Amino acid sequence: MLDNKGFNLWADGYDKSVGVSDEENAYPFAGYKDVLGTIYKTIMEKPNAVVLDIGFGTGTLTTKLYENGCPIYGQDFSARMIELASQKMPNAHLYQGDFTHGLVEPLLAQNYDFIVATYSLHHLTDEQKVSFLRVLQYHLNPGGQILIGDVAFETRAELEQCRKDSGDAWDDDEIYFVVDELRNAFPTLAFASKSYCAGVLSMTL
Ligand SMILES: C[S@@+](CC[C@H](N)C(=O)[O-])C[C@H]1O[C@@H](n2cnc3c(N)ncnc32)[C@H](O)[C@@H]1O
Repeated sequence: MLDNKGFNLWADGYDKSVGVSDEENAYPFAGYKDVLGTIYKTIMEKPNAVVLDIGFGTGTLTTKLYENGCPIYGQDFSARMIELASQKMPNAHLYQGDFTHGLVEPLLAQNYDFIVATYSLHHLTDEQKVSFLRVLQYHLNPGGQILIGDVAFETRAELEQCRKDSGDAWDDDEIYFVVDELRNAFPTLAFASKSYCAGVLSMTL
């Protein structure tokens, strides 16, 4: 599992390597553009929505929302990712912090119309995902949504099939979403598949 130093090193080449994996329809980023595009369109339906992005990386998704008038808040543990995202969004409220310890204090002080996390929460165990998502739910404004884009599968059998098909490329350190298992904790969880290995999970309060 990459730590913050690993992400610092990946930061400058991140957009390119993700783009190549998506174009080649290769695990883990097959469907990446579609995943981010779907989340972007959902958020744009609410003018000037207040958005919190967990693990915003280089800011690919949030920069577009920022340019369209959305106030942007975010948390990431990589100093280099924060530097790159801040250059694109100078007035965004971006904080450094490890989300395995929850949200940093200033981000706990308010609520959001949308809380998004793309390709970041697979660094949490399934138990950590449930507790963190419960905290995030409390920080939604009425009518708000949590939108998660990631490597994700409807069932464990689909994950196992992808693991088999991906061979050596499969990353055993990452803990991917299995939607029908997460529904035990969040019965209203919705899932839109965007490729054989990725999709968008959404939930409300
Ligand atoms: C694969 S990148 C995804 C970036 C962006 N959301 C995207 O969709 O392209 C994962 C991001 O999550 C951040 N991250 C990973 N683990 C984290 C943690 N425990 N706490 C805070 N940020 C973390 C990394 O620094 C990185 O910026």
